[in-house]
Amino acid sequence: MPSIPAAECPQPGRPRLSKFHAPEIVFGQDSLPEAAHAALRLGARRPFVVTDPGVTEAGWPAELLRRLRSAGLRPQLWNEITPNPKDHEIQAGFERYESSGCDVVIGVGGGSVIDAAKGVALLAANGGAIGDYEGIDRIANPIPPMVMVPSTSGTGADVSQFCIVTDTERRTKITIMGRALVPDVSVIDPRLLVSMPDWLNAATGLDALTHGIEAFVSLAHGPLTDTHALHAVLLVHANLPRTMIRRQDDGPRTAMAQAALEAGLAFTNAILGATHAMSHQVGGMLDLPHGLINGILLPHVIRFNGSDDPTRFVPIAQAMGLPARPGMAGDEAVDMVATEVRKLADEVGVPTGLGAIGVRDTDVPRLAQLTLGDACLTTNPRAATAAQIEDLFRRAL
Ligand SMILES: NC(=O)c1ccc[n+]([C@@H]2O[C@H](COP(=O)([O-])OP(=O)(O)OC[C@H]3O[C@@H](n4cnc5c(N)ncnc54)[C@H](O)[C@@H]3O)[C@@H](O)[C@H]2O)c1
Ligand SMILES: [Fe+2]
Repeated sequence: MPSIPAAECPQPGRPRLSKFHAPEIVFGQDSLPEAAHAALRLGARRPFVVTDPGVTEAGWPAELLRRLRSAGLRPQLWNEITPNPKDHEIQAGFERYESSGCDVVIGVGGGSVIDAAKGVALLAANGGAIGDYEGIDRIANPIPPMVMVPSTSGTGADVSQFCIVTDTERRTKITIMGRALVPDVSVIDPRLLVSMPDWLNAATGLDALTHGIEAFVSLAHGPLTDTHALHAVLLVHANLPRTMIRRQDDGPRTAMAQAALEAGLAFTNAILGATHAMSHQVGGMLDLPHGLINGILLPHVIRFNGSDDPTRFVPIAQAMGLPARPGMAGDEAVDMVATEVRKLADEVGVPTGLGAIGVRDTDVPRLAQLTLGDACLTTNPRAATAAQIEDLFRRAL
């Protein structure tokens, strides 16, 4: 397995502050019961447990509820959430939270459940509609304590300051960002990953890879995020295909849980880039798996960003075990990384183009226009015009 290349040293004469936020993290096989202890420590008596029908079917919420009850708590369950959670679903969840007299919010599920749980907690303390909080740092009041238990190895929402919600009227996904949205405790039990169907495992693994790469090249990257970003790239590259072949094997699953966590720690501090800014628009329009859309877009965005400044793609190539070295023709490293990402996407069954998942050429101008307003674009290493984003969408068709 390749080792992590040394992250770039800070440049003399350019002092930069590095801030790093993270929740308390409990990580390891069979850690699920820790969620009950965490809720107790946070003062819970009536925890509000957010999940969705797919995760309920897999049995994880039932196990959590048993643990909460044996800890003396009286949990309330709410599972009326669909993937790419919708604004009206979060409103309904908030009304249920209010009427049930709950205190601590616990999310057990993928990124959709975790974002819905964050949305409910946000509204509980701040009122209004979820769409009012689009953008950066618009949350005024402290929100109820949150414990998150991720059931996919991808989004990093359990450690992030992001909440992504579908605005059903505008058919786009809005990004809500703020330190208040970082959960208090993340309990990561890789056991929950074994019930994921292959398509979800593939999509969420590519989401984690996208987080690692976008965070590493982000304008807001720093020494504290670089290490996690590169290690996440290394772990996904080495383990995602192994999880598809040896489905019940603990090793690759645990490595993917760690990859998702480290990618999450990297991107919640370094933010993301054009892949996510574009992906949110396609996801909002077509209600498709987020990681799958990222997997299609990422190689195109890598080539776009790398043609401006290829240097940061050399350590990424090295983390993937590719024969890149400092000082090599920059374009070569960029090409290697983009080709390898596409190869990995092929290996796990991701379609080659957006056309195959329902995007039409006539959708492109609207998608590009909405991309320009997405908060994730602000940290992309290369500035992009509407025409350049349109071109990227068309290359990815
Ligand atoms: N807040 C953030 O920082 C952040 C970061 C990236 C992505 N996201 C968001 O997360 C969402 C995607 O989340 P996701 O990719 O984790 O999937 P998801 O939560 O949308 O789940 C997809 C489907 O898989 C099922 N599922 C989840 N875990 C399962 C398991 N262990 N076993 C069986 N079925 C399971 C769910 O029931 C659901 O039907 C998107 O809305 C995306 O925008 C948020
Ligand atoms: Fe993502």
